[in-house]
Amino acid sequence: MPTVLILGASSEMGFEIARKFAIQKFDVQLAGRQPDQIRPLQSDLQIRYGVHCTVHAFDAMDMASHNSFYQSLPAKPDVTACIVGYMNDNEKVIADQAETIRTINTNFTGPVSILNIIAADYAARKSGTIIGISSVAGLRGRQSNYIYGSAKAGFTAYLSGLRNKLYHDGVHVVTVLPGFVNTRMTAHLALPPLLTAQPQQVADAVYKAYLKKKNVIYVKWFWKWIMLIITSIPESMFKKKKL
Ligand SMILES: NC(=O)c1ccc[n+]([C@@H]2O[C@H](COP(=O)([O-])OP(=O)(O)OC[C@H]3O[C@@H](n4cnc5c(N)ncnc54)[C@H](OP(=O)(O)O)[C@@H]3O)[C@@H](O)[C@H]2O)c1
Repeated sequence: MPTVLILGASSEMGFEIARKFAIQKFDVQLAGRQPDQIRPLQSDLQIRYGVHCTVHAFDAMDMASHNSFYQSLPAKPDVTACIVGYMNDNEKVIADQAETIRTINTNFTGPVSILNIIAADYAARKSGTIIGISSVAGLRGRQSNYIYGSAKAGFTAYLSGLRNKLYHDGVHVVTVLPGFVNTRMTAHLALPPLLTAQPQQVADAVYKAYLKKKNVIYVKWFWKWIMLIITSIPESMFKKKKL
């Protein structure tokens, strides 16, 4: 059976992506900072879908551990989905250097560190798919979110370069720009319902993108056009807006 590795399995998005692959009879490796929190998900997937599911400790910020984490997996995954992310209020982030570093390392440096290791393995094996959850916040810096947004911008550019490099090795990379999603991260925000996706919709879109080898996807189609408008506003006008 093929295997999917979920980095950031404690998130609803991560679990729904794991479930989607389990339904398709993928064995599942659930990785996260707190393995005990993930174990109930492990049982759920094993009982419901009859797949082999394992749980692994993984901290994106602990980059020195990434090589041994990957080498310790019981099987090398065919698909890796990196859902790891962190967002705090931008004013709090810029006022606190530790929060700035956490935001950048969780959304950019950490994912790059682990995906470099996995990408090298996939390139050597001449197969595999890497799915990275980035954000439309990375398409234009806004005053309300520019530390998170710039880290996601870096991650989006990384995934683009990785896709270009690995294409020649038969390895595919999918960039996911979900738009608003109803999750723990956004629970405190009043998101417009029409523009907001559910974690299951993200999982459906991710699995479809995996099957069809899509390069960059938005979960709700209109986000592409919203972002086209936002990125088309001249900088001389954009800088005056309170966004
Ligand atoms: N919700 C949205 O509207 C939205 C929109 C666009 C993109 N995204 C992106 O979607 C992804 C999932 O976010 P979410 O909305 O589902 O929020 P979430 O529930 O907070 O998910 C974040 C995930 O990242 C994990 N994580 C954080 N720091 C980590 C670390 N140092 N090492 C390993 N794992 C770590 C969390 O694990 P713990 O349980 O251990 O904290 C959790 O599994 C993120 O990359 C986010 O940036 C979300």
